[in-house]
Amino acid sequence: MKIEIAPSILSADFTRLGEQVATVEAGGADYIHVDVMDGHFVPNMTIGPLIVEAVRRSTSLPIDVHLMIEHPDNFIPAFAKAGAAMISIHPETTAHLHRSLGLIRSQGCRAGLVFNPATPLGYIEEAIEEIDYVLLMSVNPGFGGQKFIPSSLGKLRRLREMINNAGELGAGRVRIEIDGGITPENIGEVAAAGAEIFVAGSSVFAQPDPAAAIGRLRAAARLAESRLA
Ligand code: DX5
Ligand code: ZN
Repeated sequence: MKIEIAPSILSADFTRLGEQVATVEAGGADYIHVDVMDGHFVPNMTIGPLIVEAVRRSTSLPIDVHLMIEHPDNFIPAFAKAGAAMISIHPETTAHLHRSLGLIRSQGCRAGLVFNPATPLGYIEEAIEEIDYVLLMSVNPGFGGQKFIPSSLGKLRRLREMINNAGELGAGRVRIEIDGGITPENIGEVAAAGAEIFVAGSSVFAQPDPAAAIGRLRAAARLAESRLA
């Protein structure tokens, strides 16, 4: 499986955001992950379309916007216009999930569905045609630097099986992204369980050399893969 790394700017130094984004792009990042929090759905508040627009001017990488906000429909068009290539939403934040996912696609973005650690995967059965990727949370959303929740591995394996069993709607079409507590120590096991896009905040931007940190993550994931083969 293709291993892709999505550094989360939540752990970046915002006094020099453009430079930090350029550093991870040069270091081989595949996406820039942007965590949008509203202080209601999650107990933290972060950034809006303005920053996405600034990131857009700093990189040619696709911008992966993770919305942790209530009533996401109110903001999806603004994030798309600001330059998001991918937008993911949590099912708890919208009364009409099917409509919200359709809205993301209608704005020309790939649509993602996010699962908190205790959110059941059953939504996939109803919404698989509407999504391009699943974002599985391996921490409770709200903050960077938290510890990977071990039960996420079993959930990831179940998710991989569901996608693989979904025929042409699933495997090869719907990608699996994982978010929270990813480190060079656990990325191999997580890759083996079926994830292909790895969000990494503190294990990239809190490191002395963020570009080298991406290399370490990718190498560790590939090593696990080659052992499996
Ligand atoms: C948490 C965010 C994550 C966060 C990950 O709510 O969704 O994207 O930035 O940070 P780390 O990799 O430090 O767990
Ligand atoms: Zn995130």
